[in-house]
Amino acid sequence: MKSTSKTKEIQTNSSSNLLVLGATGQVGKLVANNLRRSEANFSVGTRRKANLEELTDRFGASRFIDLDDPRTFDQALKGITGIFLITGYTVDMLVQSKSLIDAAKRNGVNHIVHLGAFTRDHDAYATVFAWHQMIETYLRDSGIAWTNLHPNMFMQSFLSVWSLKGGEYSAYTSKAIGFTALEDVAEAAAVILMEGPEKHNGKDYWFSADALTPHQVAETLTAATGRKFTAAVRKAEGFQNDAAQPGSAFEPAYAKGGFELFRQVEDGRMAYIGSVRDDTKKLLGREPLLLNGWAKLHANELLEAAGMAAPPATEVAPNDGIPSTLASFVKANNDRDADSVTACFSKDAVVYDDGQIMRGAEEIRQWIAELFRKFQYVVAPTNVRELTNGAILTATITGNFPGARVSLDYNCRTLGGKIEVMVIQPTPVAK
Ligand SMILES: NC(=O)c1ccc[n+]([C@@H]2O[C@H](COP(=O)([O-])OP(=O)(O)OC[C@H]3O[C@@H](n4cnc5c(N)ncnc54)[C@H](OP(=O)(O)O)[C@@H]3O)[C@@H](O)[C@H]2O)c1
Repeated sequence: MKSTSKTKEIQTNSSSNLLVLGATGQVGKLVANNLRRSEANFSVGTRRKANLEELTDRFGASRFIDLDDPRTFDQALKGITGIFLITGYTVDMLVQSKSLIDAAKRNGVNHIVHLGAFTRDHDAYATVFAWHQMIETYLRDSGIAWTNLHPNMFMQSFLSVWSLKGGEYSAYTSKAIGFTALEDVAEAAAVILMEGPEKHNGKDYWFSADALTPHQVAETLTAATGRKFTAAVRKAEGFQNDAAQPGSAFEPAYAKGGFELFRQVEDGRMAYIGSVRDDTKKLLGREPLLLNGWAKLHANELLEAAGMAAPPATEVAPNDGIPSTLASFVKANNDRDADSVTACFSKDAVVYDDGQIMRGAEEIRQWIAELFRKFQYVVAPTNVRELTNGAILTATITGNFPGARVSLDYNCRTLGGKIEVMVIQPTPVAK
């Protein structure tokens, strides 16, 4: 089977049957998106029975598994050859991972790809880092082929509610930290799962593409979004309080690990966290995203998370007319005319389609031509919010794709009548 990736041909093992955990979370969702695009044979695992159908619509297949209940494992692992093992922000990751590895062995799984932490220096004693190292040791000892991914701080963390409040970046150390974009980690994980243990058994891969001090982070976010960001260096202890706020995914023991990490980065024991070491190019044949590029793609989300989103200049029903560039984009889609879609974009435009990135006119043309080849669909605008430098078009897409109907937001920055950046994501469900 061939991947749709433009940078690398992937040789997948046609007999592989993969299970992706955490597909409702940040990393797992992007891994599953990548596998889906590559037409890999996989299921996503969820502990939420009510979500099984929706996840099947989205990804093709889903299985019930509750990492807190090992009695659910044998059924979930029937016929599975490879697992993407990811756990949440909890100390329970230790027992969850151990019992899953035991069940994988029992059920003849032959490859586990584990998402750990950036433990580049083996003497890493911050709680969470030690937990991941212990899981990796148990996995190595299991006899199952293994691959460990070691991401540094997720760039996506900037989108959490407390990270950038009011445009002030709350840093918990004055020292540099290394960052990675989950777009890179997830695409790499999908390739590793598809290529399998023949190529990746016994390998550790590192993801830390950009190392920046708090002030460099603020400068980078300012340059990428066009709005002023500053940095405030707080005491490491502050992380425990901030990470316990409503909406945080961290349980208290994990938040303590964050505090320990920042304290040890500050006093130099974990200075290596501020280093660059990145295997994206080795795995995907392209450069990793740096914070500047990532923040440009997520500029509107960053401004929203910071509470700095420019108020929409106008909000209009589509019948009142949508900006002409977007109207052309909708018409060209409905006409199934890849050249006319491409003509809506500037030469160096970037499109971000829920985890997949297309850079420049040629990649955009290939992406849309591939969508036309795979699916028949119709785009019906339902709302437009015009912004100072673009617009957010909401549209209902109906067609012969899994689920048959979806509402998408096309968040565009435009210049001179051309789209420069388009971020396509499912329309957030109103709370
Ligand atoms: N944030 C960082 O900067 C960073 C850096 C390096 C490494 N990491 C590592 O990244 C991992 C977290 O990744 P993430 O951000 O993608 O997490 P996340 O967004 O919180 O997602 C966690 C996923 O795990 C699922 N899950 C939780 N408990 C489960 C259970 N009992 N049974 C089945 N599924 C369960 C959740 O499903 P539900 O929808 O059912 O809750 C969700 O899909 C952690 O191991 C962390 O140490 C994070």
